[in-house]
Parts: sequence; C-alpha cells; structure tokens
Amino acid sequence: MLQAIWLTHSTGSPISASTEIEASALTHFPVTVRVLYSSLNYKDALAICGKAPVIRQFPLVPGIDMVGEVIASQLPNWAVGQQVVVTGWGIGEQYHGGLAEIFYAKPEWLMELPPQLSAIDAAVIGTAGLTAMLAVLQLEQQGITPERGPIAVSGASGGVGSFSTWILAKLGYEVVAITGDCQATEYLVETLGATSLSPRAEFSEPGKKLLAERWAGAIDCVGSHTLANLLAATQRNGCVISCGMAQGLTLDTSVAPFILRSVRLVGVDSVYCETAQRQAAWQRFSTLLSEEALPIPYQTIDLDQVIESAEKLLEGNNRGRTIVALAKPYSLPCQ
Ligand SMILES: NC(=O)c1ccc[n+]([C@@H]2O[C@H](COP(=O)([O-])OP(=O)(O)OC[C@H]3O[C@@H](n4cnc5c(N)ncnc54)[C@H](OP(=O)(O)O)[C@@H]3O)[C@@H](O)[C@H]2O)c1
Repeated sequence: MLQAIWLTHSTGSPISASTEIEASALTHFPVTVRVLYSSLNYKDALAICGKAPVIRQFPLVPGIDMVGEVIASQLPNWAVGQQVVVTGWGIGEQYHGGLAEIFYAKPEWLMELPPQLSAIDAAVIGTAGLTAMLAVLQLEQQGITPERGPIAVSGASGGVGSFSTWILAKLGYEVVAITGDCQATEYLVETLGATSLSPRAEFSEPGKKLLAERWAGAIDCVGSHTLANLLAATQRNGCVISCGMAQGLTLDTSVAPFILRSVRLVGVDSVYCETAQRQAAWQRFSTLLSEEALPIPYQTIDLDQVIESAEKLLEGNNRGRTIVALAKPYSLPCQ
C-alpha cells in the first residue's frame, strides 16, 4: 500500500482524500520513481477542489509536477538512484501525478536533475519556476532586453509571478510588480528585486483599449481585464507573455495595441513544451543558482494537509510556493 491523494469524482468540493492505495491501482510505465517532493500549483488546487475540469479521467492522483529518485527501471538510460524531475506532460490531469509516494514515468517525461540543483530547489522551481523561465526566455527571443524599458508582472506574489519577478530582476530588468497583496512590498522589492509595485485593482476592471505606454513587456499570470490593460499600456514593438488565468479565461481587448503599436502577444505553455526548451530553462536556473540561493519562500506540507492548502491557494492570498514532502521512504514490495 502507498499513501496518495486520490481523486474519485468530478463534482462536489473537495473531491479528494489523502488515503492508502494499492500500487497496482496506478498505471505502470517503465521507470519507477520514489517521490521526494511534489508541489501545489494553482491547477492542482482547481483539480483537488473540483473547481475546473482539470482531470480527464477518474480515479486519478493529482500533482502536475514531482521530484524523486529512480528505484526501478526497465531502461538502460535511467538507473536506480538517479534524481529526476517531471513537470507537465499531462501528469495530474490525464496520467497519475506526483501527489503519491510512487510515480510511474514514461522515459520522455524525465529530466535528470542538473548537478547544481538540489531536490528541494527543483521542487520549489517546479512547474511555476519553469513557466516563469520559459516566459523570460520568450521575452528575450522577442528582443525585449533590459535597455528597452520596464517589464510588468501580474500576480507577482504567486508562484509564477514570484519567479518571473526574481529572474527578471536578476537579469537586470526593471520590474513593475502588480499585486493584490498590500503587505507584499518588502517581499517583492527587498527579496525578489522588483523596482516598483502597482496595485492589482488598477488593472482588474475593463479599461481603455489604448493607454499611455508604460512598459516594454509584461508577463501576465492572471488573464482577463488585467491582460487587456497590460496590452493597452505596452510600448511600441513591445511584447506581452500570457501564461495564466487567475482572474479569468476571457480576453476582451481590441486590435489597437497590435495594429497601432506593433505589440505582440505570445502564449507560453509549460505542460507540453519541447524537451529542448525545458533543458534550456533548467540550464538557466543552474546558472542563476550558481551565484545565489533561491530566494523564493516556500512552505512544506505533508499529504494530509494538501486539501486544506488547496482551498487556501484558491482564495488568492498565496505567497511563494507550497511544497509537499513525501517523508516516508517507500520501498518496493518484494517481487
Ligand atoms: N501556461 C502554463 O504553462 C502555466 C503553468 C503554470 C501555471 N499557469 C497558470 O498561471 C497562473 C498562476 O499560477 P501560480 O501557480 O503562480 O498560482 P498562484 O501561486 O496561486 O498565484 C496566482 C496569483 O495571481 C494573483 N491573483 C489571484 N487571484 C486573482 C484575481 N482574481 N485577480 C487578479 N489576480 C489574482 C495573486 O497574486 P497577487 O496577490 O500578487 O495579486 C496570486 O498569488 C494560473 O492561472 C495557472 O493556471 C500556467
């Protein structure tokens, strides 16, 4: 038997429980991983609380990322003892995810932990950090260098927003952190390096389709009116990265920022992005962390606290990351 969060049906709240399941209840893939850490992301919270149709089939173990150690492998290139990280690829949505003591992996999902990163660093980075790094790499590819002007980050105190703020500041960008957390000044400015703060409320209502040009680019974690307002205030030839929907999925804007200012809107998807992009992002973290420890705060919880924490995360008052530690060393049953 192994401990897991086990989602059993699609309605009601919560739709899950921390329970014991048979290992045979999980779909077997060639590499068996003992989970050291998973994390609680916005999408996990939606799935666990039954607030959005994240889960494609029931029953399912949620958890869209995990860090662990290979304990059995049918493949020569994945050896017992290797530390690995998996983010996305439909785990915790279509396939059993990281919120269990054991995770069965397809080989193409696995990324070996870069040597500079500890297992806890990789867990804290997880899907949120990877998404933020992909967004920053995309801004760079679009030619948005620090000299071009400030970058706005919405949902700045959340997981993706915190990483975006820190990475951008570390790379020399001026960062305007947009937040609804009125007590986050010290965190966003002193800890993560934001240059200034803007209140979330200034962006969360419908606004003009074009506003005074304020930033060269933006990383938007919340969607809806906030994204429309970010586009409206983006400088000529600027670029806005859309990567989240904490405010909503809709986007009510006009073509004005695109045809009058050549603003680009680029989406980032960390779930099914190519392996080469993931490797580039993890490599960039290795470089950044060779100079400085991760400043992103995190709280560690165990499986029994996951449901309560998921409900709190959806209330929108989350700061940093929530890591789920799978404390008990699991051993494979004798075969
Ligand atoms: N594209 C991808 O591949 C990808 C990957 C990971 C996550 N995501 C998405 O990115 C978003 C952020 O994920 P996360 O894990 O960082 O979540 P999170 O830790 O919960 O952070 C979301 C942040 O958004 C802000 N926020 C919450 N409710 C809001 C509202 N109603 N209006 C405006 N702002 C609100 C809050 O920041 P402040 O208090 O600072 O305002 C909150 O901390 C989610 O929509 C998630 O689904 C996408």
